[in-house]
Amino acid sequence: MADPTIQYDDIQGTILRGYRVDLARHFILSINDKAATGSLIRALVDGLGGLPHITTAKHWSEKPACFLNISFTSTGLTALGLSAAELGSFDPAFQRGATSLDTAKTIGDIGESSPDNWIGGLANGERVHIVLTLWVAKDPAVLERISDQLRAAFVGCVTELSAHDAKALPDNQIHFGYRDNIAQPTVIGAPPRKRQIPDDQEPVATGEFLLGYRNQGGGTYSVAPTELSLNSSYAAFRILEQDVAGFDAFLAEYSAKAGVDTELLAAKVCGRWRNGNPLELRPDSAGEVLPSSQLNDFTYVSNDPSQDDTLGLKCPIGSHIRRNNPRNGAVVGTDSAHHRIVRRAMPYGPAYDPDRPTTEPRGLIGYFINASLSNQFEFLTSQWNLDSEFVKSATKPGDPDAGNAVFNISGEDVFLGVNDPADSSFTLAAPGPKGKNNTVLPGFSRMITTRGGVYCFFPSITGLRYLAKVAAD
Ligand code: HEM
Repeated sequence: MADPTIQYDDIQGTILRGYRVDLARHFILSINDKAATGSLIRALVDGLGGLPHITTAKHWSEKPACFLNISFTSTGLTALGLSAAELGSFDPAFQRGATSLDTAKTIGDIGESSPDNWIGGLANGERVHIVLTLWVAKDPAVLERISDQLRAAFVGCVTELSAHDAKALPDNQIHFGYRDNIAQPTVIGAPPRKRQIPDDQEPVATGEFLLGYRNQGGGTYSVAPTELSLNSSYAAFRILEQDVAGFDAFLAEYSAKAGVDTELLAAKVCGRWRNGNPLELRPDSAGEVLPSSQLNDFTYVSNDPSQDDTLGLKCPIGSHIRRNNPRNGAVVGTDSAHHRIVRRAMPYGPAYDPDRPTTEPRGLIGYFINASLSNQFEFLTSQWNLDSEFVKSATKPGDPDAGNAVFNISGEDVFLGVNDPADSSFTLAAPGPKGKNNTVLPGFSRMITTRGGVYCFFPSITGLRYLAKVAAD
């Protein structure tokens, strides 16, 4: 089938393009006046009254001074005038919303991470209607100037419940010290990435990221009315606080217990060394940073025994990147191409200095984008991050005595799991029948706490114009 032609200027830019900026501000808004909010949406789509306009995925020859995208919750769409019948056509997870008890249980937002404890008004899902995000290249003065313009436009339409800033750390690092922004899906028909990092995974169907196109299953995600369907998308907006001191303490304690180097354990729980090199290509030491053409160019299973890592002896089956994208590893149910997500998250809070530790909040904030929250973000979290039963029985080519993949994973994702010390564990696999020689590390605590979450709908530009009209009627 030919690649679909995508009308880039009808699509909100962040879905298909990485903006490569240092600063972002996420405004959490509650609608007060429906008609006035309709006018605000129209003004943002067209950049009226000196306001910046919503950024689309259209090619730009000169990089814009800022980027702006807008998304709505299900309560937000209701506040704008969508009927219950129309909302009933939306993704079930989106309809539930991030603060529902079912959602929280499904994705591990429990205990300290539970929605009741969320910051910035995010605990009250009924009032959270809009997430509006402004990104700027580098200059904080530009961020403030445009924020002032936006805040002036909010008056009489929406209440700002809170604003959450993100700031890039040097060299694409995130807290915990890893390099991020390496692996992203190649979306069929999307604009080529400026800094495309090649891999040999199959390109993913457009319909996994945009409504109205064929998805990996051969169907199409869509909603009613049609104006809101084609070129729209969903995202999970997440504020994830990282306990850097806790992570360092985990690495020190558990590397000693396992008898391995601290940096090796850091690489094993992630699947990449902190410099970004994947364990599949650099199993023994981090080494010099690989050329970007190689950084993501690997799979987990190969017929060539010298390349194969079916058993996770190099990159653990329970490592963060392998759980979140098992690539060609055998999993129960549909393969990883059905569950890819686009990540648009950035660090927030100051870099952690172990010599001068501070307790200021720091973590990762942003969007995890997909055409189905149920089948992508929630599936990833509930099935692959919070479970270890998804691995299919598989043995290493040519060496059945080396073990079976199903014995070489335990517990939950070290980063995203609930990780109650009563049952948390992480497995370092070694050759041998039934995982007999494995090192299992039990009893550590959660190191990343959810401080906020929103299930968002990113309408197309056509959809935004439609919402503006519905709100005005
Ligand atoms: C604070 C929380 C998180 C941390 C510290 C973290 C850390 C990382 C790191 C260091 C990488 C490797 C860099 C790369 O491959 O580009 C990565 C990749 C990835 N993460 Fe996370 N992550 C976090 C949250 C999440 C969440 C919430 C999800 C989705 C449920 C997620 C899904 C992924 C995926 C899909 C990849 C790429 C895997 C691949 O294609 O090989 N991460 N993450």
